[in-house]
Amino acid sequence: MPNFIKTAVIGHPISHSKSPLIHNYWLKKNALNGDYKAIDIHPDSLEKDVQQLIDDGYSGFNITIPHKITIMELCEEVDTLAQKIGAVNTVTIKEGKLYGTNTDTYGFIQNIKTNAPKFDLRKGKAVILGAGGAANAVLYALLEGGVPEVIITNRTRAKAEELIRFASDKIKIIDWDRRNEVCEDANFIINTTALGMVGKPELEIDISKANPNALITDIVYAPLITDLLKQAQSHGFKTVTGIGMLLHQARPGFELWNGIMPEVTPELEKLILS
Ligand code: ATR
Repeated sequence: MPNFIKTAVIGHPISHSKSPLIHNYWLKKNALNGDYKAIDIHPDSLEKDVQQLIDDGYSGFNITIPHKITIMELCEEVDTLAQKIGAVNTVTIKEGKLYGTNTDTYGFIQNIKTNAPKFDLRKGKAVILGAGGAANAVLYALLEGGVPEVIITNRTRAKAEELIRFASDKIKIIDWDRRNEVCEDANFIINTTALGMVGKPELEIDISKANPNALITDIVYAPLITDLLKQAQSHGFKTVTGIGMLLHQARPGFELWNGIMPEVTPELEKLILS
């Protein structure tokens, strides 16, 4: 078929991924000739299996756990943003070579801009709960957006300390058992841990003393309204759910491969949550 665009998400495991639903929805909406598959690739065969995608004429792919860091070695070029975050989640294939970027920061920013357009992160301190891959992307977004101060609190303190490399003058690391205290007067609280997700332990935290104008967001989207967001709503804080980050981070990859920037619609949101 002429101009058939082949794309995919690679990971291990991969069956849980929502990316095929998102991309195939956009391919259909935009009447494009192509498809987007979920491909399970074992870490031991990453290089060989990625070469197979190149040989099969793929235009690009997304990368999820556990390949986001190891894929960087196979790339001809990794852009500055992905280098800074230390992970690649989107690859474009051109003339048999891989070009890597990271769209998680974009996804985070667009989710907040779309769902809390009046929120100003320059107005006060932000608190990031967690220090995993998602925290890197969120931290980068906050610093780019002009946040005055960021407190990072994580169960494993050493992992949080690694993030100081981003901007040592603006970042403070505080022990996980002091998380309630650090939320006092916060202007922005972001949960980047897996806590509160279906099947994971609850996120035990008291955010009642945050700034009355604070925005609270969670990168967990299953359930959509996590206990953190419920608590925030009960105190009258503004909240933004995590589903938008997932949907928005998918847009730049789609544009790179298909030449069209797709839209996040209520219909798509409903499809992904059903
Ligand atoms: P991702 O790359 O998706 O962010 P990750 O790197 O595994 O995933 O990070 C998960 C985050 O959730 C980490 O901050 C982790 O804390 P540790 O660095 O101490 O592992 C946090 N997390 C996971 N389970 C936790 C728990 N039971 N209590 C506190 N934090 C937890």
